[in-house]
Amino acid sequence: MVMEIQVEFKKSEKIALWCDSHDNLLEMAEENGIKITSECAAGICGSCKVKLLDGEVEMETQEGLDDEDLKENMILLCVSVPLSNLVLDV
Ligand code: FES
Repeated sequence: MVMEIQVEFKKSEKIALWCDSHDNLLEMAEENGIKITSECAAGICGSCKVKLLDGEVEMETQEGLDDEDLKENMILLCVSVPLSNLVLDV
């Protein structure tokens, strides 16, 4: 059974379906025409961080986030994949 995961880009007013051909949420956002600042694409620089408003992700590394970011539920799109439906503040 294939589980469909839906990702909502709230500010962009766009909803898209996650598929496994996407490597991460950054790639998915870009494919959907959503402009995200990104530099390292490896979870280090923190430039692609976005607030997760709802849902759960798996993040390969949290290196680019500080304590404040973690408290605010920021995620690094370039190293995140969704585990559930998501709402992102972007
Ligand atoms: S692009 Fe550097 S942390 Fe995502």
